[in-house]
Amino acid sequence: MDYKQYIRVIPDFPQPGISFKDITTLLNRGDIYRQAIDELRVMVSDLKIDLIAGPEARGFVIGAPLAYALGVGFVPIRKSGKLPGETVEAGYDLEYGSDKLAMHNDAVKPGQNVLIADDLLATGGTISTSVNLVRQLGGNVAGAAFLIELAELNGRAKLPDVNVFSLMTY
Ligand code: PRP
Repeated sequence: MDYKQYIRVIPDFPQPGISFKDITTLLNRGDIYRQAIDELRVMVSDLKIDLIAGPEARGFVIGAPLAYALGVGFVPIRKSGKLPGETVEAGYDLEYGSDKLAMHNDAVKPGQNVLIADDLLATGGTISTSVNLVRQLGGNVAGAAFLIELAELNGRAKLPDVNVFSLMTY
């Protein structure tokens, strides 16, 4: 399946020089959205996943249906200050901007196999921080799954010891 035909590329958003990969046009197609999640499910089916963790907001749109399809739990990774319980936190830089991510400190038990899911791997800052959070709690990062990987930003370099799966590469 050529999923790229369902991605809308918007030049100069949110800043000049950024070519934004808009997944909403793929999400809008129920049949294609389901097929993409199902293909990711097959790609990770050999990993013994206990939980999926996804960073807000677009990581929820990929991680939650993937967790449902696999029959495992979902852990939201949120921007600092949003989660009500006690958290672990870590800072990160984005392709544009910077922020802090947080996870409930009882969300992952030591030794659990966690797959991290998001829509896009760009610089890898978001996912390497998510990896950091899972590992702070003693979780094992079984892999990271994405709809899209921006190869020129080399996010994989920030994830040297993580199995990376992506449906599309730009
Ligand atoms: C986007 C995207 C990834 C991240 C990728 O999220 O959904 O999570 O950036 O960039 P990186 O690999 O350089 O870290 P964003 O922080 O814009 O938040 P959103 O999903 O809430 O829009």
